[in-house]
Amino acid sequence: MQEVIDYLKVDPKGVYLDLTFGRGGHTAALLDRLTTGRVIALDRDKSAIEAGHERFMNESGKLQLMCEKFSSVSEIVREPVQGILADLGISRDQIEDANRGFSFQRQGPLRMTMDAKQALTAKEIVNHYDERQLADLIYQFGEERRSRRIARAIVRERPIRDTTHLAEVVEKAVPRTSFRQRHKSQIHPATRTFQAIRIAVNDEIGEVEKLLATAPLMLAPGGRMTVISFHSLEDRVVKHSFRQWNTRGVLEVLTRRIVRPSTEEIAGNPASRSAKLRAAERTELEWPQ
Ligand SMILES: C[S@@+](CC[C@H](N)C(=O)[O-])C[C@H]1O[C@@H](n2cnc3c(N)ncnc32)[C@H](O)[C@@H]1O
Repeated sequence: MQEVIDYLKVDPKGVYLDLTFGRGGHTAALLDRLTTGRVIALDRDKSAIEAGHERFMNESGKLQLMCEKFSSVSEIVREPVQGILADLGISRDQIEDANRGFSFQRQGPLRMTMDAKQALTAKEIVNHYDERQLADLIYQFGEERRSRRIARAIVRERPIRDTTHLAEVVEKAVPRTSFRQRHKSQIHPATRTFQAIRIAVNDEIGEVEKLLATAPLMLAPGGRMTVISFHSLEDRVVKHSFRQWNTRGVLEVLTRRIVRPSTEEIAGNPASRSAKLRAAERTELEWPQ
């Protein structure tokens, strides 16, 4: 959190875009530093926006909340902004709500949609994709080397009823002992499979690619953009995109290396342990040329 705020170099009179409002933690930190400035905050999850209206009732003059996907932000927000923040992934509210189906530790429906109205759910992928599609997706988005084995087990066990059923099938296909030896980690064997399905359901990589294709052009000269990602796939997209904009003279990358949370932050918020932060600043260059 501190690093994000430091990198944004908040101008108290500036306009800031929080692309992933969630529970509003970053928005609150921005609002605290603004005088006449404003925050425009987006989230594709309607319940996050509704909770935000309640939490920030007294800030309505300084905060505009919108239920939108960030891939279309440049069509929605037409003014230059001093800062853009994206904190990718899912929020704690989403993970903790068993009904959303994001967690393998809570019994719930196979949904995993950030936007409740969305038609494609985890159920469609898990119970209807063919074995090859499923294996490819688990391999690509979960970086899971045992994807074929897991996909075979899922297909054999269909119909998969719910999240705990899916976690059990994966755990049976990739037993904990051999999984630990291979990955030298304590993560649950279903972690990567759940991550992969969630990324596919929400087209998370596509969203970040579309965002980064236009968002830097929304920054006023000297404006800054920070992106926090939680897995290497997203981080790769951010790194390459920032580099390309840097080469075109539009952005100057401020983080030569990934910024990671401090040990104190990890101690207080263990979920932050895999966060990767990158930041860039808009140059003075006119665009389009
Ligand atoms: C990690 S949480 C953000 C937490 C937030 N920074 C806070 O301080 O509470 C990510 C949020 O981004 C939202 N989100 C993810 N992808 C999105 C997208 N493509 N468009 C809009 N919102 C998105 C999720 O619904 C979730 O609420």
